[in-house]
Amino acid sequence: MSNTASGNTSPNLENRLQIEQLLNAATLSASALTEKSDVISGLTQKPKSVQARYFYDDDGSQLFEQICDLPEYYLTRTETAILQECVKSIAQITGACELVELGSGSSTKTRILLDAYNQLNLPLHYVSIDVSAGILESSAKALLANYPSLQVHALVSTYELALKQLKPASLPNRLICFIGSSLGNLNPQECQVFFSQITKALQRGEYFLLGIDLHKSKNILEPAYNDSQGVTAAFNLNMLNHLNQRFDGNFDLTQFEHLAFYNETQRQIEMYLRSLRAQTVTLNALDLTIEIASDETILTEISRKFDLNSIQQELRSHGLKPMQVWTDANQHFGVLLCRLLN
Ligand code: AVJ
Repeated sequence: MSNTASGNTSPNLENRLQIEQLLNAATLSASALTEKSDVISGLTQKPKSVQARYFYDDDGSQLFEQICDLPEYYLTRTETAILQECVKSIAQITGACELVELGSGSSTKTRILLDAYNQLNLPLHYVSIDVSAGILESSAKALLANYPSLQVHALVSTYELALKQLKPASLPNRLICFIGSSLGNLNPQECQVFFSQITKALQRGEYFLLGIDLHKSKNILEPAYNDSQGVTAAFNLNMLNHLNQRFDGNFDLTQFEHLAFYNETQRQIEMYLRSLRAQTVTLNALDLTIEIASDETILTEISRKFDLNSIQQELRSHGLKPMQVWTDANQHFGVLLCRLLN
């Protein structure tokens, strides 16, 4: 007799799950090359920088999950509470639609959305996109076990690549979800490009759900990125580990320290790794050797803090009309449901 209670498998898992690798050097040499040149140019420029997506190897994604539970990291908790209040309206407004999520990670908040569609007896089609294959696969399987009618199409990919390759929605409508304030990682210019990629991936009348962290006091912002348990520091330093593994490098993690502060003029958290001494680092797979001075910093992340009025204006300028905006009582975080006009 088979033991149905043994694993997290559920009926027809194979039929309901499709996993696709878009970030595969063998099939996509062009994107692999861009990736290499992005890292090389970031590390050879002054000031040095590495794109924030390099945080998210499987260890980095786990560390980020820990960050989300930190007492100082109000973002996840606040957005979750807002979503709990507004998902019913979202599901009612959009009706049956394919959910596409950029940077899906553990898909914890996605469950709140899926529950709302489920309660309205709407079909559940979910396209999850993440650069971290491990977390993508495990969360897809966990979701399938909990939602018997759910279909998941998981893409190991960057946002840009996935948005370009999306096929027309598998249901009459599409909702692209970009929650968790990941938009904050993009500078204003990258933001423009991103919004135009979103509009290209949508048909007229389809939806875009955006979750963003809002500008607020430094006294709340800075502790969120300098937690007392040092998880954010470990998350930041893990990027070097990821680069070492991916590009056969020799960054010594003990020779760097975590630095994060709120730049009030730019309205962004800036996160750096500061070198504790003069050092030479080699990344063999990139044929790259760099000199890093004592106290020199590598910018690893910007996390912009938005203003609800300006972001709505910007969305409108891309034809993405904000239909509803939800915030918490303290106006710490915002969730916007937009619709593509034409
Ligand atoms: C996932 C980009 C929203 O900017 O708050 C958390 C990443 N960095 N702690 C953020 C992050 C440091 C996070 N985002």
